[in-house]
Amino acid sequence: MSAPVKPAPIKPASDPAVIEEAAAILKAGGLVAMPTETVYGLAADAGNPDAVARLYAAKGRPRFNPLIAHVAGPNMAWRLAGWPDLADQLAETFWPGPLTLVLPKRPDAPIADIANAGLDSIALRAPRHAAAQALIRAFDGPLVAPSANPSGGISPTTAQHVADGLGERIDLILDGGACPVGLESTVIALLGGTPTLLRPGGLARRQIEAITGRLAEPGSEDTLLAPGMMKSHYAPNATMRLNASAAEAGEVFLGFGPINGDLNLSPGGDLAEAATGLFAALRALDARGAARIAVAPIPDEGLGEAINDRLQRAAAPKDDLI
Ligand code: TXA
Ligand code: MG
Repeated sequence: MSAPVKPAPIKPASDPAVIEEAAAILKAGGLVAMPTETVYGLAADAGNPDAVARLYAAKGRPRFNPLIAHVAGPNMAWRLAGWPDLADQLAETFWPGPLTLVLPKRPDAPIADIANAGLDSIALRAPRHAAAQALIRAFDGPLVAPSANPSGGISPTTAQHVADGLGERIDLILDGGACPVGLESTVIALLGGTPTLLRPGGLARRQIEAITGRLAEPGSEDTLLAPGMMKSHYAPNATMRLNASAAEAGEVFLGFGPINGDLNLSPGGDLAEAATGLFAALRALDARGAARIAVAPIPDEGLGEAINDRLQRAAAPKDDLI
């Protein structure tokens, strides 16, 4: 019989001594869950291949799915990637915040090859959450951080969600409360040619397009550009039925706006509020043990594009992994 594994302690992210402790754990190759404004991330030293290998193993994440390196801001980003004018404009407008830029990786970047799946590009983001900023600054270098959940599951928006999914496999959980945005960052590729929307997320497309012009979609021949965009992702145990007008027998119902249900993402029809509560609502309904979760229609505008993306992946058959 193997010895019981101690769950990671949950400590307040607002305590500077806890941030120092977390930075020391990361320096020693450990894994720390940190709050960001989008979702909780599982952080590791981007330059330490053993730490990053531990991170992939803890999540059960396929190694071909590259990670985002989190930086304090553009000054840290320049050392890691080629930095076109457009990156400057986007970072000036939206960093720190829920926007990830995929850029050409500098050959001398202090990033372990395993962290970006051996690609010649690297994804960079400066998170806005005070705790994430404090941790990156205390660590004084880039931190890779995927969402802090077992691969394929629902992303965590509270410290308790992290503990439920990964508690026994990591070293420390920083508690910074519920994530205000609630959806992962929007991922844009700036690799020459037309800027491409790789993943809709917590920053609405039209805000970015005001600067970039119309964003391209990754076509089927570009699948390598978005190696981690699995069809099935964010999946609850229940199956899902989307664009539903009412619950059928055996279903729990997630409402929106005037269409009420067991829970309502936003009775007033506010998409930002719906985004913030989406993952917690899926977890709560899943915990009721119903065979199926039905969801009211969500308008496909603004943050609705990312909400619908997550709902479609949550609804995809789970054997349809790639
Ligand atoms: O909001 C977020 O982005 C959160 C928080 C923790 O920062 N992080 C997050 O990480 O969602 P993750 O690993 O769950 O998703 C990263 C996405 C994946 O779809 C991955 O394939 C893509 O970014 N990605 C990373 N590096 C890439 C690269 N070099 N080229 C293309 N896509 C890349
Ligand atoms: Mg994820």
